Amino acid sequence: MTTVTVSGLSKRYGSMIALDAVDMTIGVGVTGLLGPNGAGKSTFLRCLATALGPDDGTIRIHGFDPSVQEQRTEVRRRIGYLPQNPGLYPNFTAYALLDYVAVLKEITDTRQRRAEVRRVLDEVELTDRARTKVRKLSGGMRQRLGLAQALLGDPELVILDEPTVGLDPEQRMLFRALVSRIGERRTVLLSTHQTEDVGALCERVVVMSGGRVVFQGSPRELAGIAAGQVWLSEAPPRGSAAYWRNADGFYRTIGRQPAGGEAARPTIEDGYLLLLGSAVAVEVTR
Ligand SMILES: Nc1ncnc2c1ncn2[C@@H]1O[C@H](COP(=O)(O)OP(=O)(O)OP(=O)(O)O)[C@@H](O)[C@H]1O
Ligand SMILES: [Mg+2]
Repeated sequence: MTTVTVSGLSKRYGSMIALDAVDMTIGVGVTGLLGPNGAGKSTFLRCLATALGPDDGTIRIHGFDPSVQEQRTEVRRRIGYLPQNPGLYPNFTAYALLDYVAVLKEITDTRQRRAEVRRVLDEVELTDRARTKVRKLSGGMRQRLGLAQALLGDPELVILDEPTVGLDPEQRMLFRALVSRIGERRTVLLSTHQTEDVGALCERVVVMSGGRVVFQGSPRELAGIAAGQVWLSEAPPRGSAAYWRNADGFYRTIGRQPAGGEAARPTIEDGYLLLLGSAVAVEVTR
């Protein structure tokens, strides 16, 4: 089922084109948004979250048009949004902050609101920090609190801008389990620089570069871009700069087969690097 339909979405900051005629459809499940720094991911997510008005193009979220004021309210009722740098009030306690956001989300019944705040605190394992002030939480805890506020009211569309930044491996696992559970019934769109996040939890992946969508498909299809172009060798390849040494001592090359190189299974990261041209562009002649 399609939740979000975007067509021809464009946004400029002065002469800088941040989004250049982006088309996208997103359905129920978890979609990952990958792209280098400055690709336009946050700009795109901010437009979906109605935090930013695009210059051109159309957005439909559950059929509602956020450019029309009355429909924008309907959109906001149905989304949860974690910005890239959420400015969480430092002097609020975790509980007070969530309670405040829950009021903004129109959960006006006190008992219902209390239950909902407790539920999301529990989901992100911050129940024992409910009375701690935001400024006294660790970076990862703050990130989880940001995630918790996006989950208030059980929104149909959850937009998360780099939600796994600063999480330790255990929390990352917890986060993935939580998000995949939400994605069973809801639409989750998350940006990340971690290709492992995409492999572990996204059914679909969109890659942006220079304000454009350069790939939409499954993680397997993204990895498939590098099929037949990834090699492992015991000696460093000559003439290719697109290689690195694995922890197991083998050299991993993307591009042309090096002497003694054996074919390796491509990963999402390999496909991503090839797609963006980072792997082949640095190849030099022997
Ligand atoms: N408020 C702003 N004013 C001017 N330029 C901006 C503004 N916000 C973003 N930009 C520019 O728009 C482009 C896209 O930025 P955006 O933050 O959307 O990228 P991103 O893909 O989220 O990058 P990152 O991975 O670093 O978070 C960049 O070139 C950035 O410098
Ligand atoms: Mg960003």
